[in-house]
Order: sequence, then C-alpha cells, then structure tokens
Amino acid sequence: MIVLGIESSCDDTGAAVLRDGRELSNVVASQEAVHQPFGGVVPELAARNHILHIVPVIERALEHAGVTLADVDGIAATRGPGLVGSLLVGLCTAKAIARRRGVPFVGVNHIEGHLLSIELEGPLERPFLGLVVSGGHSALYWAAADGSYAVLGQTRDDAAGEAFDKAAKLLGLGYPGGRAMEEAARGGNPDAMRLPRPRVKGAELDLSFSGLKTALWQGLERNRDLPLADVAASFQRAIVDTLVEAVRRAIAGTGATRIVVTGGVSANGPLRDAMARMAAEEGATLLVPPLKRCTDNAAMIAYAGWRRLARGESDPLTLNAVAELPLGPRRQCGELRG
Ligand code: KG4
Ligand code: ZN
Repeated sequence: MIVLGIESSCDDTGAAVLRDGRELSNVVASQEAVHQPFGGVVPELAARNHILHIVPVIERALEHAGVTLADVDGIAATRGPGLVGSLLVGLCTAKAIARRRGVPFVGVNHIEGHLLSIELEGPLERPFLGLVVSGGHSALYWAAADGSYAVLGQTRDDAAGEAFDKAAKLLGLGYPGGRAMEEAARGGNPDAMRLPRPRVKGAELDLSFSGLKTALWQGLERNRDLPLADVAASFQRAIVDTLVEAVRRAIAGTGATRIVVTGGVSANGPLRDAMARMAAEEGATLLVPPLKRCTDNAAMIAYAGWRRLARGESDPLTLNAVAELPLGPRRQCGELRG
C-alpha cells in the first residue's frame, strides 16, 4: 500500500511517501527565514507560505519516491493540533487529492505522528511512556495499546521548545532558538547561573517553563558579565534536568520499561544524553528518533495514517482542522493499572 502523508500544522510544509509503512521519501520546506525577523511563527504568514509550498513539496515527495499520484492508495494529513490556517492548507489539499483519485483519506493527530516517528525505524512494543517536547507541546503520554493513549501530564504554560525560543530571543540568538541555544551552550559552564527546576505542586507530571524564562531574565540582570556560553549552558541544563526528572517520576508512577522521547526538542544532544543516562539508571529502554524525524515532518504523519488505512479505516471528507485535539483522556498513573 502506497500512502502519501501531508504535514502543515505549524511552519513546516511536509510531504512523504511510504510503501507498506516504509519511507520512500520525506520532503520538508522550512519557513524559518520567513519567521526569523519576528522571533516566532506568525500564523498568517505561515498559512500563506504553506499555500505557496504545498504543491511543489508534494510533487518532490512523489518524484523522490519514484511514484506518481496514480500509484497512491491512501492519503493522510495532519488535522490537529496546530494553527488552523496552516492545518487547513494540508488538510484541504489531502482531501482534494483523495476525492479526485477516489482513494481513502485519514486525518492524523500531530502528536501521535511524533510518538510513532520511532516506528519508522522498527517495531515498537506497547505499552510505552512517551514525552513529546516541541515548540507547541510538552506532555507525557501513556500508550497502552495501538491507538490508545492517555495524557499523564502537560505543560501549564510554555512548551519546552517555546522556552528555548523565548530565551534565545532574549539572548539575541535568533529563531528558532533551540538549536542556536545548543550551539551557543557548547563549552559553557551549566552551573554558572543558578536557575530553578520548576515543579507543579500537586501535579507531579505537569510541567511549567514560563518561570524559567523570567528567572533567566533576572539572572542576566544580576550577572551582566557572564559569558554567553555559560548562560546558554545553564538555561539548557535547567530544561534538560526538568524534563529528565519528570520522566523519572513518570517511570516510577507507571512502571514503564520503554520510553519514547520525541518532538523538535528531542534533537537536543545534552537532552538525549541525559535521558539515556536516566533510562539506564532506571532499567528502561530509551527510544529517540533520528535527528531528521525529531522536528516536524510528513513521514511520521504518513506512518500514523498508514496504520489506520491498512486496517481499512478512513475519515469522511467533511473532517475539519482543529486547533486543540487531545490525544486521549487525562489519567493519573494509579488509574492505568488493572
Ligand atoms: O516538533 P517541532 O519541529 O514543531 C512543533 O511541533 O512545535 O519543534 C520545534 C521546536 C522549536 O521550539 C525549536 O527551538 C526546538 O523544537 N528545537 C530544539 C532543537 N532543535 C529544535 N530545541 C532544543 N535543542 C535543539 N537542538
Ligand atoms: Zn511537532
């Protein structure tokens, strides 16, 4: 079965082709340069640029895969969560192709795409504990079985990637900030600036990053002469520690032995290293996607869609884009057993 996947939830336009769940092509057109001057994604500009990129990106994905639209057996596109104007471009294009070709269409949850991006490397057993950390999301999930997810905890304010982006802006590192911060932090002393490891009282698996940004600002006021590398390394370490300890608490609560860490922030080297150390200490297996599949891409959407299409499922062409799309109900660790 040949599946075309389309992703346009934020500022990357992606198209990918899979054959029986294996990647044949995965094309992403980045809008980084468009949003750079604003230090963040401007939704209206993102939607307009998706319109410019979507058809050439699909054409390139088909060409790289060595197939044509006539070979495609099913179409998957992200339906949420994300920016509605952006989502609509990919979703409407997918539905139009499905209608014209008379092939089934499925709408995919972007977060499920991130979690399943690991499976493009090989089979992933359930249950697993998943941490999705990106520019728009920071949450912990329990994947009990195929297609069955619960939310164990989520950020109360900023996402981890958003915290990186805002801090990078404060430090004049440009947008997107995560990668720039990682580079700036190289060789820096992570203990140079004292920053908090935020916890949410009474909700052990929830996260909060907005205070960290304020603490960084105050720290900069107090230590004006600290080298940039030390500041960046200290901020990065605070985020890494906070995420690692949240996953450690989730392992204790769920008894998970398989941990998936994914989303744009999972491209961060120090985060990957620290998660690997923690997983080894806890006797768990850590799975992280290769770098190219950490950030938004369409292969992960095509994959999540293919699993449903292969079971004979499809969605009606009336399916709409949604900004908020929870992957599952909120659960406490104690409710998962039995
Ligand atoms: O998954 P993604 O491409 O888009 C969303 O769904 O949000 O994630 C983008 C986020 C941005 O906030 C970016 O700063 C962050 O991922 N990011 C990183 C790194 N590379 C990307 N954060 C930390 N370290 C990195 N190397
Ligand atoms: Zn994403």
